[in-house]
Amino acid sequence: MSATANAIANRRPLRGRTALITGATAGIGYETARALACSGARVLVTGRDPANGERATATLARDCGADSAAFLRADHGTVGGNQDLADRVRATVARLDVLVNNVGGLYSHRQETADGYEATLAMNFVGPYTLTAELLPLLTEGGPSRCVNVVSAGFKMWKTDPFTDLHSTDQFVSGDAYAHTKLLNVLASLAWARRLAPDNVTVNLVHPGMSWTPMTASMTAQTIPSMRLIWPVLRFWQRHASPVKAGRRVAFVASSSDTAAYTGRYIEGRAAPNRLSERELDLDNQDLAWTLGEELMTTAPTHHDRQTPGRKVSPR
Ligand SMILES: NC(=O)c1ccc[n+]([C@@H]2O[C@H](COP(=O)([O-])OP(=O)(O)OC[C@H]3O[C@@H](n4cnc5c(N)ncnc54)[C@H](OP(=O)(O)O)[C@@H]3O)[C@@H](O)[C@H]2O)c1
Repeated sequence: MSATANAIANRRPLRGRTALITGATAGIGYETARALACSGARVLVTGRDPANGERATATLARDCGADSAAFLRADHGTVGGNQDLADRVRATVARLDVLVNNVGGLYSHRQETADGYEATLAMNFVGPYTLTAELLPLLTEGGPSRCVNVVSAGFKMWKTDPFTDLHSTDQFVSGDAYAHTKLLNVLASLAWARRLAPDNVTVNLVHPGMSWTPMTASMTAQTIPSMRLIWPVLRFWQRHASPVKAGRRVAFVASSSDTAAYTGRYIEGRAAPNRLSERELDLDNQDLAWTLGEELMTTAPTHHDRQTPGRKVSPR
């Protein structure tokens, strides 16, 4: 390869790769998509609002290359919505190199999805589980491929049993439901990492860092009652935290050669993986969360009861 061709390849190291990033028309997902697209990847971005999708893909095309991005409309809040999206992704690409389960939920009041699931649980746990399960055939097709689940360091704030009051029916506190469901995501992701290792699919977790996004903008002093006394200070930090840095961190885990060998890792800073506690490393907890994900996926009222083409991961 000539020196010029080498220099061009180095500028676009992800050329030829395809990445799906959920909830990526704004916020951290958008910045992740931008970092990947401007490194040469073709990105598929999801969101509910087509106008947001059009705006995001137009900006990505302008800044990262004409065919760098495509928008897929999706509501990640239901199992059926995630399955429908997976069907359209399968119809669009033959393989996926990267899946970033970025989209999440943090709601001011308790609400249920069309599946009858509490919305934070649906968005932070059942949705990412379903999409990973549904897209496995595309991820295992080429290999090596990467699944990155965007969580939050807030999962450490859930101190009680992760497997009780899943739908926050006893009590709903926004920040608690968020911590609880992100913990379930962490546990199930670690189980996925073990199950998918033979298929050359890595699964890692990332805390992107505080960022000013539609999600944080929607928070109030009641979202995390334990922090209400420092709310003005927290708000000040949030407003000044750019999602660009967070998106770069997620893209680093999703694409860097430095993180290629990682699987079952949790990354909070930019460099080495962070330590997880005994609770998260407990294989029974991980397997229980994985089984719970499978159960909530397959018994959801919106679940399409059909065999996912090519899915072959055993339940244990
Ligand atoms: N922001 C932070 O400080 C922070 C800190 C730690 C962890 N995180 C985690 O990082 C991830 C991204 O956070 P963020 O703050 O960027 O989130 P966000 O502001 O909610 O992200 C907005 C994006 O998600 C899409 N979206 C929202 N709900 C959706 C749904 N039901 N179905 C499909 N798309 C949906 C929006 O498009 P539409 O509105 O058009 O649907 C938009 O593209 C989340 O998992 C979050 O928990 C964030």
